[in-house]
Amino acid sequence: MDQYAVVGHPVSHSKSPQIHAMFAEQARQAMAYSAIEAPLDGFEEVVKEFFQQGGKGLNVTLPFKEQAWALCQNLSERARLAGAVNTLYLDQQGQLCGDNTDGLGLVSDLIQQGVGLAGKNILIIGAGGAVKGVIQPILSEMPACLTLSNRTQSRADELVSVFAGHGSITSLALDQLSQPFDLVINGTSASLGGQLPTVSRAIFSARTVVYDMMYAKGDTVFNAWAKQQGVGIALDGLGMLVEQAAEAFLIWRGVRPQTQEVIKVLREASA
Ligand code: ATR
Repeated sequence: MDQYAVVGHPVSHSKSPQIHAMFAEQARQAMAYSAIEAPLDGFEEVVKEFFQQGGKGLNVTLPFKEQAWALCQNLSERARLAGAVNTLYLDQQGQLCGDNTDGLGLVSDLIQQGVGLAGKNILIIGAGGAVKGVIQPILSEMPACLTLSNRTQSRADELVSVFAGHGSITSLALDQLSQPFDLVINGTSASLGGQLPTVSRAIFSARTVVYDMMYAKGDTVFNAWAKQQGVGIALDGLGMLVEQAAEAFLIWRGVRPQTQEVIKVLREASA
């Protein structure tokens, strides 16, 4: 049977095996998908061994996405720009290929939820690895403007210079934000520690859609706060997780699975 896996450290919490098992069943694909915890200094060996033993594809999660990028002989354009890879496979010549489906996962989830990006004013808070991976797919939807704002503003400025040729993108310091946006994406890891980025509530209006790239049982800290400010729609990153997996499945198996039922199952399981 064709073998797939997610590699991370830690990895026991990963929902990817469950998601891909549901996809495989739905698409009637004979495949196995496991979770591999690589030692922090042993990612490369794990990848080599997996493919030497005939493995077909790997997903890569924290903290190895940048290392995966550096290992690849071929990168998709979006992975090259993201500087990180979450999907690995071998091409017909046996070369290691890397893609990054995180950004497409975010955009697909927003579209599924009825949130188009074309012509919108979008704010992303954060400028770390997770944000870098989603910028190009967002810009390719042609927003009116994508504004990046980060606690360490120089990181946001750097990303703007990297992506300047790919669409309308600018940066603004967190304490300079004073206007509402159509879409506010929290791409910081602050929610993990139960913290909020220090930002004015003026970024919200009743028409603002909020998207936290993290997900949690119930509302994330950021989404709960946004709702208190009168935001009507606050979405979390569970859909993004499933959609990025669907894009990886498409790369490996040539079929894009239905995602909505899988999201529902995971949502109910975490309720
Ligand atoms: P990831 O791969 O999850 O993006 P990262 O590269 O370490 O991880 O980036 C974390 C992001 O969350 C950064 O934008 C970080 O801001 P800094 O660049 O200033 O460090 C942001 N972040 C983390 N905790 C935060 C907090 N409490 N308030 C605001 N921003 C925070």
